[in-house]
Amino acid sequence: MQIYKVGGAVRDRLLGKPVTDIDWVVVGATSEEMLAKGFRPVGADFPVFLHPKSGEEYALARTERKSGRGYGGFTFHASPEVTLEEDLIRRDLTINAMAEDDQQNLTDPYHGRRDLEARLLRHVSPAFAEDPLRVLRVARFAARYAALGFTVAPETMALMRQLSESGELQALTAERSWKEISRALMEDQPQVFIEVLRACDALKVLMPEVDALFGVPQPEAHHPEIDTGLHTLSVLEQSALHKQPLTVRWACLLHDLGKGLTPEEDWPRHIAHEHKGLKLIKAVNERFKAPKDCQELALLVGEYHTHGHRALELKPSTLLELLQSFDVYRRPQRFEEFIAACEMDARGRKGLEQRNYPQADYLRGAATAARSVAVQPLLEKGFKGPELGEAIKRERLKALKAYKEAASV
Ligand code: CTP
Repeated sequence: MQIYKVGGAVRDRLLGKPVTDIDWVVVGATSEEMLAKGFRPVGADFPVFLHPKSGEEYALARTERKSGRGYGGFTFHASPEVTLEEDLIRRDLTINAMAEDDQQNLTDPYHGRRDLEARLLRHVSPAFAEDPLRVLRVARFAARYAALGFTVAPETMALMRQLSESGELQALTAERSWKEISRALMEDQPQVFIEVLRACDALKVLMPEVDALFGVPQPEAHHPEIDTGLHTLSVLEQSALHKQPLTVRWACLLHDLGKGLTPEEDWPRHIAHEHKGLKLIKAVNERFKAPKDCQELALLVGEYHTHGHRALELKPSTLLELLQSFDVYRRPQRFEEFIAACEMDARGRKGLEQRNYPQADYLRGAATAARSVAVQPLLEKGFKGPELGEAIKRERLKALKAYKEAASV
């Protein structure tokens, strides 16, 4: 049997990027031989094995045939006769379809190296269409390598468009899609992921609520970029520049969905878009089974981001309601993430990227003031049950009034 390094490890070494995990392909072997060497099978009828010591993935060279719709619709044909070239041709991109032996000799039948140099994401063959998840993968690679100047080859974009139009994307499982989306959002230029999905018409299939924001105007005074879709891309871009966590990036992407529902005759104003957007945010959250912390933050940011921007004008009672809604006493981190998302929203506007956001410290100070109310003295005064709750609220309100006065706003 011959063993080759394949995929991302070869690509990233040639790009001079750090290689994190290595995938191997094994030519000329049977499953029985792999098992006899101590490799552990990954799944019952999947020709992939884990190395007994390193835990790295070793896949038998295989050809793939499509047998139906969706992820379940694959049959694998792995046999010792399958050649390296046959294995490589069914992979997604030419830059991912190179192999290397232990002497670092490159096998590159589909010119991945040439495309690396030309900074092109190009599909290897029509077999690309066997897995519609690749539409998301290409968009993710575009986001990752945008800074290096990579773009999607026009013929690959055309194929991605065909896949989007075929209805195949709907057959993807939430888990597989979310894995790509969450990884893409954590790249340095996550906005490119959305741009590429939009360019190939996948966005209107995967997230029609986000797609609908393009072409929707906002008031120029607050939004010099005017277009709500462009604003959303900028907010996402800011979230990456500021190294925000996934929860914040997800909330940034979804914060303005309500603006897509405004009747045209009301443009460019979007009255109550925060509240109207909640059902859309919920739908997107559920479609991809986003983790609970992402879901929660996206809904809270959707509902309260305008409160964040108006923090300095809010009455103490409204500030208190905001802090209560966030359960800031038990969940201080979540409130920090809310503040971060509001700040990204404020900066994700044309020409305003460097603006100050005094609301952030003001909100932090308000949370500290409300949190500083001690419960013990109230217990000592004999308050209990709902009365205790009311008394705590009254004291917090007092603290917030004093805070607002001291800040003289
Ligand atoms: N691959 C593919 N189609 C997919 C998934 C994977 O063709 N839907 C192939 C590609 O050749 C890819 C390799 O399997 O390079 C390994 O896949 P994976 O580990 O998911 O990705 P990497 O290319 O290693 O990229 P990353 O750095 O994002 O992990």
